[in-house]
Amino acid sequence: MPTPTLFSPVSTPAFAIRELAVFVLGITGAIFFLVSGVGVYVLVRFRRRKEDDGREPPQVYGSPQIELAWTVVPILIVAVLFLVTARYIYAIERREPPADALEVTVVGHQWWWEVRYPKLGIVTANELHLPVSDPEHPTPTFVTLRSADVIHSFWIPQLAGKMDTIPNKTNRVWLEPQQRGTYVGQCAEYCGGQHAGMLLVATVETRDDFARWAAAQEAPANDELQARRGRELFVSLPCSSCHTVQGTPANGVFGPDLTHLMSRSTLGAGVVRNTPDNLRLWIDDPAALKPGALMPAVKLVPEDLDRVTAYLSTLR
Ligand code: CUA
Repeated sequence: MPTPTLFSPVSTPAFAIRELAVFVLGITGAIFFLVSGVGVYVLVRFRRRKEDDGREPPQVYGSPQIELAWTVVPILIVAVLFLVTARYIYAIERREPPADALEVTVVGHQWWWEVRYPKLGIVTANELHLPVSDPEHPTPTFVTLRSADVIHSFWIPQLAGKMDTIPNKTNRVWLEPQQRGTYVGQCAEYCGGQHAGMLLVATVETRDDFARWAAAQEAPANDELQARRGRELFVSLPCSSCHTVQGTPANGVFGPDLTHLMSRSTLGAGVVRNTPDNLRLWIDDPAALKPGALMPAVKLVPEDLDRVTAYLSTLR
């Protein structure tokens, strides 16, 4: 996966952010080299020499010209940085969603991301699927951000700027990826013990691939015969009071929706790869993989653990 850096953007707002970052780095870099260059020059040029007899060099008191120069020049620099930044922020924020824009709702939880596509009836977690936007037929995605508990921050550096998810407040951000690929995001606001274990992967794919993914997500949960007994066990366990599997009595909302669990690449918001073996370890003791995770260890005898894992492994 590409490194999550704002210097290799693939999405419209992220291109603007890189431009601005390079501009600001250019100005502040020039100031840095100027100031440290003059500092080094002065250190060398006016260092103490053997022939000095201990007397101080001529002292200068007060100079309106110099004082004016070092007051006015920094004010001008700050004004330029302020105006340019304000222009970029305005350009990004004023974008209105076109009628056919893809709408996604992302809810920050301790410590995972709930992802909903309200118009498509899709609920998933820790993964964002987006169609690639072709500049001739732009298909931007507009994201509504909420929080279920504390402040988190939604940030996929290659796609857009950071935006906080705040309890009882709705924020908006938009993405317009122009290159297929997977892009890593990370919660960018300290939100408790597993802040670092709150990853998000955005998969940008062709419109056809996106439509296929959406169709698979909209389908009812797979429910093969051999998994029936695991399913009965699952819905009888406390699991079902925190997790939803569409089409079953499990309808909890505290934890991630599991309807298409196995379509996702990681468990625990990016903590481990999603394989049946890791899934079994996760169910047995989430804290062993993600210390502090709020999912409790449901003490199951090994046979029941196998049955629940087998059932969940069918949820593609
Ligand atoms: Cu969620 Cu940091």
